[in-house]
Amino acid sequence: VKDKRTDMTLADLATHNHPNDMWMALRGKVYNITPYINYHPGGVEELMRAAGKDGTDLFDDIHNWVNVESMLEKCLVGHLGSSAKKAS
Ligand code: HEM
Repeated sequence: VKDKRTDMTLADLATHNHPNDMWMALRGKVYNITPYINYHPGGVEELMRAAGKDGTDLFDDIHNWVNVESMLEKCLVGHLGSSAKKAS
């Protein structure tokens, strides 16, 4: 995607692990989810479990039907680089 970083690493995410500055990787995309946290039906504490991390597995275990890509479209920060993605 234009104007977005495409080479982000898990280390880039790691420091953004607080409610006021929370990034999360989901399905290869990195989102700033701070604007969303107060709207999350599961609450802030649940989001904290994957704050600053790749939350894909946890997210999919709980609600893989949720259309995160469209819900968080405006919160997209960038994309994980190939070395940060899990082999699958
Ligand atoms: C609901 C956890 C990330 C959207 C829930 C619930 C939990 C949960 C436990 C159930 C709440 C309840 O019914 O009492 C998590 C965890 C996340 C995460 C651990 C981090 C990996 C997200 C993200 C989004 C999202 C990033 C969307 C941007 C929703 C929605 C529901 C929900 C829409 C309601 C689903 C329904 O009732 O069908 N979440 N969530 N969640 N979450 Fe998350």
